[in-house]
Amino acid sequence: MKKKKILVTGGLGFIGSHTTVELIKAGFEVVIIDDLSNSQLFILDNIEKISGVKPVFYKIDMKDNEKLLDFFNKEKNIDAVIHFAASKAVGESMDKPLKYFRNNIFSLVNLLDAMEINEIRNIVFSSSATVYGDPETLPATENTPFKPALSAYGSTKQMGEDILQKVAATKKIDAISLRYFNPVGADSSALLGELPIGTPNNLMPFVTQVAAGIREKLTVFGNDYDTPDGTCVRDYIHVTDLAVAHVKSCDRLLNNAVENNFEVYNIGTGNGISVLEIIQSFEKYNNIKLNYTIGERRPGDAPSIYADASLADKILGWKAKLGIKEMVTSAWEWQKKIPELTS
Ligand code: WQD
Repeated sequence: MKKKKILVTGGLGFIGSHTTVELIKAGFEVVIIDDLSNSQLFILDNIEKISGVKPVFYKIDMKDNEKLLDFFNKEKNIDAVIHFAASKAVGESMDKPLKYFRNNIFSLVNLLDAMEINEIRNIVFSSSATVYGDPETLPATENTPFKPALSAYGSTKQMGEDILQKVAATKKIDAISLRYFNPVGADSSALLGELPIGTPNNLMPFVTQVAAGIREKLTVFGNDYDTPDGTCVRDYIHVTDLAVAHVKSCDRLLNNAVENNFEVYNIGTGNGISVLEIIQSFEKYNNIKLNYTIGERRPGDAPSIYADASLADKILGWKAKLGIKEMVTSAWEWQKKIPELTS
């Protein structure tokens, strides 16, 4: 049987590259679009090293509608699109909101236009738990109401879902939106992982850079929250588990099983883990001491957020398999490999 062909936009990024590998392992053909704005070309070779297949790659900025339409004229018979290509730094989005609206919204609209013209029905969208803000009740279910977004990044995820829902209502597309909690970790080969530019904003890359001696110490942003140990609680999800959720979503779309043309799933483990627990697990499983200090709260942080991920289990047949040990050890193995891969 001919392989189903999936376009992965942002396929050389952190989540996109891991998803590409899992798609190839599951028997899909993958074509990648990436503008290399926050990714590097050697990732394509590493995808080949892991999976045995080098996907066809196009360097395209998806804001360029003409180039995108040219792409679809060349690459025919795409069965589904997974749309990762977007900017994702929350802090930067507060300083440069227009960059975020331009990158994340224009690209999505251009993509949906091109899909309509080329009669491609299926799309998986990268959404985020950020849409819930600081929820009134926990765990967050897919029906937990949105809070006004605190960052332009968060707005683009809420708007992205809204755009998809409205387009899906025309019945011209079927869409699945996956709301990721906190993606961490790296492929077990240590050939793929997160490559933050400059000082990392997120906890895990900061932790690994401190362990590697690139940063002097980690600051824990507040230990006076109303949580079991006073530090913020998050639902960390291994990027390989997250990648598999995209494969399951493609299966559902290609089986024409999506109800009312639009579905949303939380993708997390359902376990809340505190910042101190991350530090302790990292130290214990990697046998390394982390230099850290307790600092001020970071503005905008919710004290606690974790997922009810039971819907994804029930409908997609997806459940997180990897735990905190695999998250902290794979992240560290990857960090140690970065210098040789990027030199
Ligand atoms: C986790 C916890 C910090 C750094 C963000 C986005 C979300 C998603 C993932 C995607 C918090 C604490 C952090 C540090 C710390 N984005 N922390 N010291 O804020 O939960 O979620 O990233 O692309 O949409 O909002 O993740 O990793 O920044 O923080 O104590 O140096 O670690 O306060 O409690 P967050 P994070």
